[in-house]
Amino acid sequence: MTPVWLDADPGFDDWLTMLMLAAHPRLHWLGISVVAGNAPLDVTLANALRIRQHYGLRVPVHAGSALPLCGTLETAQRVLGAQGMRSTGAALPEVEAHADSPDAVAALRAALHASAEPVMLLAIGPLTNIARTLQAEPALAARIAELVLMGGSTERGNHTPAAEFNIYADPEAADIVFNAPGLKRRMFGLNLCRQVLLERRHVEQVQAWPGPRAAWLAGHLDAYQRIRSADGQVPMPLYDPVVAAWLWQPERFTFQSARVDVEVHGRFTRGMTVCDFRVSEARPANAEVAMGADGPAVVEQVLQAVQQALQRI
Ligand code: RIB
Ligand code: CA
Repeated sequence: MTPVWLDADPGFDDWLTMLMLAAHPRLHWLGISVVAGNAPLDVTLANALRIRQHYGLRVPVHAGSALPLCGTLETAQRVLGAQGMRSTGAALPEVEAHADSPDAVAALRAALHASAEPVMLLAIGPLTNIARTLQAEPALAARIAELVLMGGSTERGNHTPAAEFNIYADPEAADIVFNAPGLKRRMFGLNLCRQVLLERRHVEQVQAWPGPRAAWLAGHLDAYQRIRSADGQVPMPLYDPVVAAWLWQPERFTFQSARVDVEVHGRFTRGMTVCDFRVSEARPANAEVAMGADGPAVVEQVLQAVQQALQRI
């Protein structure tokens, strides 16, 4: 079993990713550290606790960073609404639950120390918790098998013309993470996610699934798929679930080694991931960057894994 840890800012695409991890047969899921991102921390934490309870996930949830390392909090609520995720159907009911700890960085550090083997660290939100963990204890990089992140882009952004949201929300944290010595990094950027497109027919597929848990999913999936166009006719990229899809079927993806630098000063480019593929001994790569995917097959993989998660409950 591969030990994994998830850092997330739920978020509907985070929700899909959580279900895919729960259904994976060969993962030992150690914990979730929650970070502010799609919405403020109190909202992303409440979302994580609701998802855990309603979908029977047996994994500790820890409260992480409410603010970026520098600057002010940036969320995606202008796109996703106050709850960080919308539904065209029933909302996911509130739960009476609390985080397993108020200090996700301490919990992650403890988990990395306690694991008998290096941990696969998955980051699908702003990188604040990860950066704080590595700042506190740089040697922990040796206990991380690989940091696999959804973030950045080899091309244009989504939150700004130049920057993808997770990186834009905390560029200083991303800069620390991409320069942390001894850390292996695998980056799934927007360039990759834009090959993995959710269409109306996929929503209709999920709308036919039975039961209340599927109904909650279908309502949020429908709203998510309509982000780019109210009638849903413009396909919507799947972001976070591509990380879990890689864990399920890595052969569906291709990668290129690159030197990735994070712009932290640019007036128009702050949060941009500048990817240089001209790597050499003199200018070594610091990340494997996802470049290609069998998009339709990956979407089917996501839906299959999510459906398996529903059937396991
Ligand atoms: O840019 C996409 C990323 O921003 C995803 O992780 C989504 O959940 C939001 O956090
Ligand atoms: Ca996310």
